[in-house]
Amino acid sequence: MPFSLVDIVFGISCVFFFQTKIIQIGLWALPPRLFFEFHHESWLCPAAIVFFTMQKATITAIGAHVPERIADNKYFESIIETNDEWIRSRTGIQERRIAREDEFTSDLCVGAARDLAATYHKDLEDVDFILVATVSPDQPMPSVACQIQYKLGLKHAGALDLAAACAGFAYGLVVAQGLIAAGTHKKILVFGAETLSKITDYEDRTSCVLFGDGAGVVLVEPGEGDGFMGCVTGAEGSGGQDLYLTSQNTTINGETVIANNKIHQNGRRVFKWAVTTMPVYIRDIAKRSGWSLDQVDWLVPHSANMRILEAISDNLDFPLDKFLESIVWFGNTSSATIPLALHQGVKAGKLKKGDKVILMGFGGGLAYAGLALRWAF
Ligand code: UT7
Repeated sequence: MPFSLVDIVFGISCVFFFQTKIIQIGLWALPPRLFFEFHHESWLCPAAIVFFTMQKATITAIGAHVPERIADNKYFESIIETNDEWIRSRTGIQERRIAREDEFTSDLCVGAARDLAATYHKDLEDVDFILVATVSPDQPMPSVACQIQYKLGLKHAGALDLAAACAGFAYGLVVAQGLIAAGTHKKILVFGAETLSKITDYEDRTSCVLFGDGAGVVLVEPGEGDGFMGCVTGAEGSGGQDLYLTSQNTTINGETVIANNKIHQNGRRVFKWAVTTMPVYIRDIAKRSGWSLDQVDWLVPHSANMRILEAISDNLDFPLDKFLESIVWFGNTSSATIPLALHQGVKAGKLKKGDKVILMGFGGGLAYAGLALRWAF
């Protein structure tokens, strides 16, 4: 079918409109009447074109920062009735970091961003968006993102905190992907950062041994080839009272809860929810990305408990040595566990360019989010 002038003008407009190289070639070869004929007959053609023409997002650098002070399991033996054996066997945790009294989430984020910039020689001046996943901000207002904007002097950056607890970092990546795909932003810092020690009830032995402090950050930029693939996002708000941190309201879902502005959880219930539902979503993410599970190089679920990772491994028949975790040396750092695990994976030389990775965050809300990506460096 010969190309007419209209076809060529249409093709050129598409090339400028859709910036992805593969699709540029596709659209150059697609006369408009063919496009509209397909469109008329099936929604699949335009849907496929929209999917494949979306500008991809990719992670181009990573950084991390944790407080200097280490609290090992022995430390807890001195403040509550517990022991190292119980903590190791029930959670896998050996140590966690605890922030100084005058050290806050924004300070850890600044440290993580400096680590990223120094390691990957990235100029952060033209960062145009800061997304911070946290449930332990320095204060609710100003946001941690605004504090980072000020402390790092990022003059052109939008700033937004995102509250999705342990699913926060994965949610942040999904949001960043949307901003990149929309073409409105090109250089986004996504943080997962917590100072949970400030909101931990150290009289509650069922939870205080779990939590730690730390921050991880990634730089998300437009990319081709390597980049973000399928994702899932969701929530089961009916389980809100199973894991919470009160502020103003003393009831959740009509249930009166412990209102001391500290984290509380029904560990057994959250455990059961995590091990039964996360494998389903992980399979779903792989499917949406066109991958089979045995093609996946690394699985990075939220590091809440080593036994949860083991249960997911069993359920998916996916080897535990292909998991990246941060639970053993940092404890449960909520939104920071996934970026800390990725950072450890890179530092250990495990995570390499081109690797297929699935991240899966889950926790308070109850909220969950996960996505697949090709590691790009
Ligand atoms: O990050 C957000 C998502 N969070 C999660 O995914 C957390 C999910 N839950 C968990 O990781 C686990 O449920 C916990 C680590 C919180 C608890 O482990 P568990 O195996 O579920 O313990 P349990 O609550 O069933 O308690 C077993 C026993 C109890 O004693 P009895 O009733 O059997 O006599 C507890 O009182 O262990 C006792 N216990 C402790 N013993 C020593 C609870 N905490 C401690 C402790 N030291 N720190």
